[in-house]
Amino acid sequence: DVSTKLVVGNWKMNGSLAGNAELLGEVTKSAGLGCEVAVCAPFPYLMQVLQILPPRSGIALGAQNVSEFDDGAYTGEVSARMLSDLGCSYVIVGHSERRSLFHEDDGTVGRKTRAALRAGLLPIVCVGETSAERNDGITLEVVTRQLDAVAAEIDGLDVDQIVLAYEPIWAIGSGLTATAEQVGEVHASIRTWTQRVFGSEVTTKILYGGSVKPGNAAELFAVPNVDGGLIGGASLVARDFLAICHAA
Ligand code: G3H
Repeated sequence: DVSTKLVVGNWKMNGSLAGNAELLGEVTKSAGLGCEVAVCAPFPYLMQVLQILPPRSGIALGAQNVSEFDDGAYTGEVSARMLSDLGCSYVIVGHSERRSLFHEDDGTVGRKTRAALRAGLLPIVCVGETSAERNDGITLEVVTRQLDAVAAEIDGLDVDQIVLAYEPIWAIGSGLTATAEQVGEVHASIRTWTQRVFGSEVTTKILYGGSVKPGNAAELFAVPNVDGGLIGGASLVARDFLAICHAA
């Protein structure tokens, strides 16, 4: 459903028991965020976040990664079933930091999306181009290739559950935000893709991520086919995160 915007905080590898409690305390003090909100915390803090969030805060819990495997001898991995068992609603899949720093290829991202869907989680599947790819004029090709790889792995599963996030890699953590025109072009192309591949009756949320701040959130959220945001740095500062939620 795209009628309500979704704002997702991705804490990345940040936080502490004390710091998380303080941040969430401030975020949950603000009544009525006016949009759907989720917080994606590091694995060790998921239970803490769940326990702090008041049941009716309307803030959902998410993880930042998941194993492509179901169960068994995969030391260090966390399964989708475990996340679902714990009370997670969302899981970020294929973030560019996982793709580039941890060698996740398109196939891995597709299989992780499948694992998440099979466990009843809502995967937030990230796609986006490098600055070199944008300069070469192949942004839409790259994004389509990344999306096709996911589609190839999820036959027969409930595509209604999928959230997509467009994150131009050059805009992540850099302070450089894509222009409304650049965002609009890619989001329109992703919308065309979802309608072709998932069917026009499926209303997939398409988030934008990459240096979203209180000062640019309203403009980005007003771009057609932008159904919310995936927020990194600004999700670690309560007043900034709240301001972005209120702009949604
Ligand atoms: O998942 C979040 C994105 O990578 C954006 O991060 O808001 O710090 O640029 P950022």
